[in-house]
Amino acid sequence: MAVRALRKIGDPVLRRRADVVELTDLASPGFDGLVEDMVDTMRAEGGIGIAAPQIGESLRVAVIAIEPTSSRYPHMSAFPLTLFVNPRVTVTDPGEQGFWEGCLSVPNLRGYVHRPRAIRVNFEDAEGRSQWIDAEGFLATVLQHELDHLDGVLFVDRVRDTTKLATVENYAKYWMSNATDPTEI
Ligand code: NI
Repeated sequence: MAVRALRKIGDPVLRRRADVVELTDLASPGFDGLVEDMVDTMRAEGGIGIAAPQIGESLRVAVIAIEPTSSRYPHMSAFPLTLFVNPRVTVTDPGEQGFWEGCLSVPNLRGYVHRPRAIRVNFEDAEGRSQWIDAEGFLATVLQHELDHLDGVLFVDRVRDTTKLATVENYAKYWMSNATDPTEI
């Protein structure tokens, strides 16, 4: 379909609570087009996840795809392209973990974010069927980051120690370990 313009921090659409998707809308051409545009935009921008508000659609829809390639991101296990409609997060292990995060909607910034280490996500798929997945480790962080977008929350809101905010260049220069850069989520 089309690569759409990414909405960036400061755009109000990133700060509102997105609307629930009516399951009767899932079969519409408009919904299919939205999902295709999200995937095209995510891939064109080199992200591993995208939420509908990031292309200006205030709906509770997100896509995550971690390609199996990447020596660039050795701490990431592959995760197949998955569509999340109306996702709900339940924390299954409130113990915290921290990762450096980036975001397609927050250009040129990395920040160190603490989040619960394990979650369950209940959601609907493209056919409106109820699904769930359990996630831990980095995947749990990716999912929480992405689903935060549906509530108008950006990773910078969750950075507790603002001395651990860095440009991409300075992240690589001063903070990066194991030659890994967190990709944009
Ligand atoms: Ni993001």
